[in-house]
Amino acid sequence: CGIVGYIGDQQASKIIIDGLKRLEYRGYDSAGLAVINGELKIKKGKGKVASLEKMITPSENGTVGIGHTRWATHGEPNDINSHPHTGQNGKLALVHNGIIENYNTLKKKLSDQGYTFYSETDTEVLTKLIESFLEKDASDLKKAVQLALHQVNGTYGIALVHSDFPDQIVVARKGSPLLLGVGEGEMLIASDASAVAAYTDKVIYLDDGEIAVIRKDDYTVESADQIELSKEIHELALSLEEIEKGGYDHFMLKEIFEQPKALSDCLRGRINAEEGTVTLGGIEGIMDQLVNARRIIIAACGTSWHSGLVGEYLFEYLAKVPVEVEYASEFRYKEQLIGEGDVMIVISQSGETADTLAALREAKSRGALVLGVVNVVGSTIARETDAGVYIHAGPEIGVASTKAFTAQVTVLTMMAIKLGLYKKTIDNKEAKKLIGELAQIPAKIEEILESTDEIKEISNLFSYAPNFLYLGRSYSFPVALEGALKLKEISYIHAEGYPAAEMKHGPIALIDEMMPVVVIAATQHTNDKMISNIEEVRARKGRIIAITNPGNEEVEDLAEFKSIVPETMDVLSPLLTVIPLQLLSYYIAVNRGCNVDQPRNLAKSVTVE
Ligand code: G6P
Repeated sequence: CGIVGYIGDQQASKIIIDGLKRLEYRGYDSAGLAVINGELKIKKGKGKVASLEKMITPSENGTVGIGHTRWATHGEPNDINSHPHTGQNGKLALVHNGIIENYNTLKKKLSDQGYTFYSETDTEVLTKLIESFLEKDASDLKKAVQLALHQVNGTYGIALVHSDFPDQIVVARKGSPLLLGVGEGEMLIASDASAVAAYTDKVIYLDDGEIAVIRKDDYTVESADQIELSKEIHELALSLEEIEKGGYDHFMLKEIFEQPKALSDCLRGRINAEEGTVTLGGIEGIMDQLVNARRIIIAACGTSWHSGLVGEYLFEYLAKVPVEVEYASEFRYKEQLIGEGDVMIVISQSGETADTLAALREAKSRGALVLGVVNVVGSTIARETDAGVYIHAGPEIGVASTKAFTAQVTVLTMMAIKLGLYKKTIDNKEAKKLIGELAQIPAKIEEILESTDEIKEISNLFSYAPNFLYLGRSYSFPVALEGALKLKEISYIHAEGYPAAEMKHGPIALIDEMMPVVVIAATQHTNDKMISNIEEVRARKGRIIAITNPGNEEVEDLAEFKSIVPETMDVLSPLLTVIPLQLLSYYIAVNRGCNVDQPRNLAKSVTVE
């Protein structure tokens, strides 16, 4: 979900709508805003921010307000469940990201006190809880919020306005991101910096437990124990160009084509092929601990989990350290055998994913060293890890992750080479070779992106297939998973990624002359075995689409369709083989008329567990 708020001299609704559009990728089931114009004015409903924009009339003129775009947790996305929620007397409005876990108990208590509830949301309960405290002491909005939050279990990023306090917005955070944008004679609040970037480049990130009151010309931030804090003001390095489509039909396509630049940015100043060295400022200070790690546990979700799987192959091969890759959500509820001597690497594009954050905290509290591989600078995960490496891919807006995946894999590759050098599991000669090849990856991706005709043709032929199978071995296995995920996410075609050899233990039963099977056959050390698996598919008349290298005649002869990627070292191949798969899913989704950048039911950043 996304939150925006404004207080100043301009029309709040315009700035809120503008901010919500930039946040819409975080959730888009419904949208709404509240503005104070003498009294509280609310407009909200199911659907996109564009529908909300059409509802705005002069009656919503006002210079203070809050807005929300929602990804439903409690209650289906309909008009009543959308935010803002209001208090009983129509003066208080609140928007909320996160989940109030004890909302049922609180709801019952409030119902007994005479409160009526119209929606199924936990947010309405919190709104009325705050209102009930304000009724007891009508002098201080912030105090009412503090008292109410003491009774709440769960996570929240909240913002509220009240028509009796038209000169302020109160915000609070626990587990769900919020920042203040400091302008001149105006202030903004948002769950994500992209919503304020057009108005100010000065931001303050709130930490868990903090409450802030913002006014047009000033703000105060208090800790959970009510001590006033002086918070650091950060300068935003986010250009508007980076968060706009720039001539592309979709953010996803723009981000696919940005990969050569994103990876060059990611590598810049960090690798030296002539000397065979890797410099990663963020982890130089903890290398001794990393060298002595008993094992590495990688925790992540979604696409970041897939890059973690590539990381497993990289660290094990280059640095000979055992690696376990965990879904962050599963890690948390397993027996916690992690502790001192272990290293956890958390991977997250947004740096806000709730499950990943929780895994990080768990590992840290048990004494493990926790490293982050994160894109969003200043995000919660980036701030809470002991050390880490930013991927520097630039803002990723398309819900389906593309350039963040390749940049994450690039960072993991650099980390694995560096660790390998420290542990002497690779020598300087090998490092030079690896780094030299890594440096060429951006140009090789450029080459793939220059000729997309084959992939478009394949997309046209298979756009209406009901199922897809993706197969790969070794480094190509996580790529198979990622290819299948991309297709599922944006085209709604059911797709499965599988280790190629494992296919014969189940999915082979699905193969017939209707089944497109994407085989990723671009690694030397598994080529022969992969060819056997392709034969097995062919024998069942599956339609083979091969991602392979130039001159791999055997694979080319067996495949019905092919997409050629330039040759590289096996360990680096995921950085190239994933590109045609991103394009395949993009073109198929476009052919099917799907909303590529905002696929149904998904959100870019999932701040609930
Ligand atoms: C959501 C997004 C995915 C992403 C995952 C993890 O599900 O739709 O694209 O891979 O969250 O997000 P993170 O920001 O932690 O990488």
